[in-house]
Amino acid sequence: MAAGDREELASLAADLRGHLEWLRDTGVREVPALPKAPQAAASAAPVSSSPEASESAGPQVSLRAAVRATVGAPEQRAATTSSPAKPVAPPAPLPPPAAANVIVNRPAPAARAEPRPVAPLPAPSGARLEGAAPKTLEQIRAELGACTRCKLSSKRKNIVFGVGSPKAELVFVGEGPGADEDEQGIPFVGAAGQLLTKMIEAMGYTRDEVYICNVVKCRPPGNRNPEPDEIQACEPFLKQQLASLKPRVIVTLGKFAAQTLLRDETSITRLRGNWREYCGIRLMPTFHPAYLLRSPSEKKKVWEDLQQVMKVFGKEPARR
Ligand code: URA
Repeated sequence: MAAGDREELASLAADLRGHLEWLRDTGVREVPALPKAPQAAASAAPVSSSPEASESAGPQVSLRAAVRATVGAPEQRAATTSSPAKPVAPPAPLPPPAAANVIVNRPAPAARAEPRPVAPLPAPSGARLEGAAPKTLEQIRAELGACTRCKLSSKRKNIVFGVGSPKAELVFVGEGPGADEDEQGIPFVGAAGQLLTKMIEAMGYTRDEVYICNVVKCRPPGNRNPEPDEIQACEPFLKQQLASLKPRVIVTLGKFAAQTLLRDETSITRLRGNWREYCGIRLMPTFHPAYLLRSPSEKKKVWEDLQQVMKVFGKEPARR
């Protein structure tokens, strides 16, 4: 086998392992059957709690096809757990690393799951994202400039503005950058970010298809909580990002994002899992992935919250 093939296979196997780990941790014991992939043992393997699960798939050519059939090709992960695998296309190039003042955005892929009708929400409680034409993400980023509006600016390495599709139907809002994010200028790239990526992929999306940002755009030193004056200084930019994106659903990660957007000091334990509304947009509060790293048994609850979101988009949750 050529070295390139070996690398690709290793990368696919790593993706599959991560995906299965997320499903296993959330209590999923079975994934939906997928159509036969060429030359593959095509029935999707049941999710095993064994760490060896993704390594016991027989001959290499079958493993490659089985991996692809299960998690999709890199740019086709929208099929993951919810819809049949599509024909395999060459992998999309990785996005370039973000510099301080660069918005890491890639155009949304054309194909999306057909949304299913969902029950209407009660009348919006707050202002809607209508009226004056919203700015583009580029304009908002330009306005933010080399921000010194709060004290976080003095210690930060990079402003972490946001990443993903400007046409995202789903937006994740976290708290604030950590050390890795500060270093790279990209949100959710550290350990919590890797877990968030697994969550996004288990929902049937890629990171490129959604949008990811934070309440505060600069790292609070030592990963302390963002302070009220810092949130106040940064929130207008988050609001403008959301007005620009106009997603169908916002998922807030952790207490700061939920409490800030909802103006509600209820604990995240009580907020999570219950649909709320932000300016006419459905908002689902859930736990922060960093909390899940410390309390893995809570992943099940988060998966339940994310499955509620998947229903809005007509994405089938994995069978239990
Ligand atoms: N935690 C967050 O809230 N945001 C990040 O970008 C990374 C970790």
